[in-house]
Amino acid sequence: MAPPAGSIELKAELARIAKQIVANGKGILAADESTGTIGKRLSSIGVENNEENRMAYRKLLFTTPKGLEESIGGVILFHETVYQKDNEGKRLVDALTSRGILLGIKVDKGVVPLFGSQNEGTTQGLDGLAERCKQYKADGCDFAKWRCVLRIQDAGRTPSPQGILENANVLARYASICQSEGLVPIVEPEILIDGDHSIEVCQEVTERVLAAVYKALSDHHVYLEGTLLKPNMVTPGLDCAKKATPAEIANATVTALRRTVPPAMPGITFLSGGQTELQATENLNAMNILPQELRPWKISFSYGRALQASVLKAWGGKTEPENIKNAQKTLMHRATSNKLAALGKYEGEEASGAASESLFVANHSY
Ligand code: 13P
Repeated sequence: MAPPAGSIELKAELARIAKQIVANGKGILAADESTGTIGKRLSSIGVENNEENRMAYRKLLFTTPKGLEESIGGVILFHETVYQKDNEGKRLVDALTSRGILLGIKVDKGVVPLFGSQNEGTTQGLDGLAERCKQYKADGCDFAKWRCVLRIQDAGRTPSPQGILENANVLARYASICQSEGLVPIVEPEILIDGDHSIEVCQEVTERVLAAVYKALSDHHVYLEGTLLKPNMVTPGLDCAKKATPAEIANATVTALRRTVPPAMPGITFLSGGQTELQATENLNAMNILPQELRPWKISFSYGRALQASVLKAWGGKTEPENIKNAQKTLMHRATSNKLAALGKYEGEEASGAASESLFVANHSY
């Protein structure tokens, strides 16, 4: 088998970036909602989806004062945000880079149906990807994200071999292109929480999907030390009558990961996938209190909804300094709670804001 591709210097750079993002309990703020998706978030608080409002909201997130960099190692951005300036002409991302928070970029172009399959899909965006990655690296990005979506139907009859193979391969091709341009790829094979399947079915499917992903990454000579994995947690489907405790979710998830994810991979940064903010934090903590020898990788977070739901509510689209301050305080609180959970030191909290509200969106797109 050929060794991973790339020069010694390139590999060292990729490994450094990946490690830095998840150092000391840090995780990722996923703020890369496409224009359509952020529109849904803004409309939930009665705010119009225009460039000015998207700028105001993301500026609020990024300028959160005092110590966001202690819990957030990287922020994933949508193309517009990388180049967006505030009303004073300052790039929004300067508030992140000036305190050592790394910039990530969503490079996929969304999910499309796989013709002839049973309601399955793949993710497009490989054309011109190397050129786009080169430009993003020159413009300050250090990592990238590409989301693939798999759906459990009929107690695990899908994802089908066709769906699993196609998505594993496109993730590996994406990862290889990113690395060739100096970007750390976040490899995201999301198995949706939609459905009434049991936790056992979710575990079995997660293992099949991750095994295929790591086979494809190996076939494409991807340098695992310079990647991050962004999987779903292993949970029962949202409509399953039998719920699971954080300890059960932690055991099933870590078991599935141990069976399929090589220890060379430095960090697992989970998506929240429709869990409430509190569930996402509790389940993360439950994994990080398992014995250390079961966890050869950092286990952290890359949450979108579970870091932003209460923040949006606290902001409410208002320009008053009080609302902005409250929203930023809320972001700090969620980020700090998740950092503690990534260190296995989270002690729980009273639900406030939107923290215990369902963040489920059927058939979620990003
Ligand atoms: P959620 O945490 O809202 O699932 O999203 C994270 C993400 O980046 C999905 O691609």
